[in-house]
Order: sequence, then C-alpha cells, then structure tokens
Amino acid sequence: MIRLQSQLPDDYSRASKEDLARRVTVAKEALAERLVILGHHYQRHDVIAFADARGDSFGLSRFAADQKEAEYVVFCGVHFMAESADILTATWQKVILPDLNAGCSMADMADLEDVEQIWEELARVTDIERVVPITYMNSAASLKAFVGRNGGAVCTSSNARSVLTWALGLDRPAGTCAKGDKVLFFPDQHLGRNTGYELGFASADMRVVNPRLTLGGLEEPDVKEATLLLWKGHCSVHQRFSTAHVEAFRRANPDGIVIVHPECAHEVVEMADAVGSTDFIIKAVREAPVGSTIAIGTEINLVERLALEQAPGQKIVSLEPIVCPCSTMSRIDLPHLAWVLDGLVEGTVRNQITVDTVTAADARLALERMLEIL
Ligand code: 13P
Ligand code: SF4
Repeated sequence: MIRLQSQLPDDYSRASKEDLARRVTVAKEALAERLVILGHHYQRHDVIAFADARGDSFGLSRFAADQKEAEYVVFCGVHFMAESADILTATWQKVILPDLNAGCSMADMADLEDVEQIWEELARVTDIERVVPITYMNSAASLKAFVGRNGGAVCTSSNARSVLTWALGLDRPAGTCAKGDKVLFFPDQHLGRNTGYELGFASADMRVVNPRLTLGGLEEPDVKEATLLLWKGHCSVHQRFSTAHVEAFRRANPDGIVIVHPECAHEVVEMADAVGSTDFIIKAVREAPVGSTIAIGTEINLVERLALEQAPGQKIVSLEPIVCPCSTMSRIDLPHLAWVLDGLVEGTVRNQITVDTVTAADARLALERMLEIL
C-alpha cells in the first residue's frame, strides 16, 4: 500500500484514550456548527461515538449533500466516501479524511485506465451507446466521472436494484425505449451478480470481465449474449463469509437468522434469510423477533456494536467466527481524529480531500442521477 499519511506527532500517538476523547470533545465544542462529523457504520466504537451522523455510504452521501452550514465535514469512513462528499458539497466546504491511508481495497480493483481500455474493446464488438456504465459507490471519483460522461449512474448497496432497473428500463412499459441493453458494472462483481439474480436474470445473462485480459477474457458472442458485464472485483472482508459458515451456524442454531451484506458471494446470499446494506442490516436486527439468534455477515465493528446494543433476549454473532475487520476503515482512530480537529481549531486544515473541478462535474452527474432514481 502506498503510505500517504505521515506519522502523527507523539503527542497524539502516545496520548491516552481519555485524553484524546477529551481533546475531541473540546475541539467539537469550539468548532460548533462549523463542523460536522460523519461516521460510517464500520467505524470503531470510540470514533463513531463522536459522529453527528452515522450511516451507510448512501445515507452519508445524502447527508453530506444536505449540509448547507458546516464549513468542515470530517468523514470517518474511507477515501471514496470522502471524495463523494467533496463532490456533493459546495466549493467553500472542506471535506477531511482523518487518515489518508483509509482507502478501500475493492475500490482499488478498478482504475480509470483499465475501465477505459475495456470500454474501447467492448465498443469494437457491441453498440457501446447501448451499454450503461454503473459504478458502485466504492470507486474512485475518476470512475464516477467516467460513468457520468457516459450516461451512467453510481449505485450503493442500498439502491443497486433501482439503479439497474433504471439502466435497463426494467420498469418501463413494453415497447418503450430503455436507457440501454447492457450494463458494465464495476468494481464489485458480487453486488452486481446478487442484484442481477434479484431482478430475475440468470447466470447465462452475466459474464465476468477480467481487466487483466483482452476484452475482459470474453469472446464476442459472450459480450453479445450478456446483459450484465461484471468487473472482476471483490471485497476482501465480505468474500471471507462462506456457505460452510452458514451451515455451521444453522447446525448450532436451527431457528437462527442469517443476515448478510450483498458484497458476499452469491452462494452465501442464497442461503441467507436477508441481504442488504449496512443500514438494512441494522433495521433487520431491530425488527427481528424477540429471543432470536442472528448471525451477521459483514464488517466486525458493526456486528460488535449490534451485539452491544442487542435487545434483551436477542443474541447477535458474526457469521464468521474468526473475524476480519476492514483494515483500511480501522485506520481512522481517535489519535487521527483529534489531530485533524485540533488543526481546525488552530486554523490548519489537514488531510483535505479535493476532487478537481472537471472530474467533480462529471462525477456529480453520476451521483445526482443516483440520488434522483430514488
Ligand atoms: P454500505 O453501502 O452498505 O454502507 O457498504 C459500504 C461498504 O464499504 C461495504 O463494504
Ligand atoms: Fe472496501 Fe470492503 Fe472495507 Fe467496504 S469493507 S470499505 S468494500 S474493503
């Protein structure tokens, strides 16, 4: 990993948790309505405690877009989320990511050069005007801009179904013209595949595009036959959940409930009782019957928090016993949060995330299309 973040001064890296929490509280009070802190559901507990808004990536992007007062938006999430917030906020507002190394390994699995290369190759074998590019929120701003320029939209795990329905005109009356006949979906093959099945497509309607191979490793007839062209990307955290985990949980808890994130593999999603975004998972747990035992297939910080907040009689466990946190999300910690906030109090803006105006304008098109679809 490229190390973008310089080491913190000792004053922060060696400070006690209590001291750091006190500093964050003091800085929040001093900055008052000039500051808003956003926290993704996967954040550590001691960081999320300071968030003015918690949410999934869709909810937080909407929240960021609605901020009309705050001069500083401190995003306790990962890089692509902070970029989206910068795109959706006004130019006078500054978006800050407390640790610049908080990236997303899945987002890094697609870059502009590879997507443009595949797009050109597809254009040689199919009518590219009828291909709608859809990028998952978990992608760089340059990819959102590509999608915006080419008539597509962003989607998140909570609205992928609506966005694919829009792209392929699945809700249009027969005979009316849809936006496209095919979708190039990146970077997460699993979200694309799970949503495709949910919409009634079969495996024969989908092909995986491997960016390391010419035409994604496909033949011309593959491209012609496919409706969903799925980029070969995945989330290393969600890919760990397996059917063996579901079987083991069900053996031990025959009445147990399994809820997973749609970044999990399709075989796992198929066996689950419910599937959805982080916000969906939280709601599903709240609505589960009293006394239920629930296994959750998503990042461990959220699972642990749900376990801490569980209703009396409920039992919440991780679907995978040997859990793996999102290592990049975990980079945001109290020392980094205190460091950026102290900087703001002193008038120094650290770790500002800026997307250049040309990229931002195109990416905004793709994000605004998404916000309009719902
Ligand atoms: P949500 O859109 O559900 O918040 O998920 C974001 C993410 O990064 C999942 O890995
Ligand atoms: Fe990216 Fe996976 Fe972490 Fe989500 S959990 S931010 S997709 S690496």
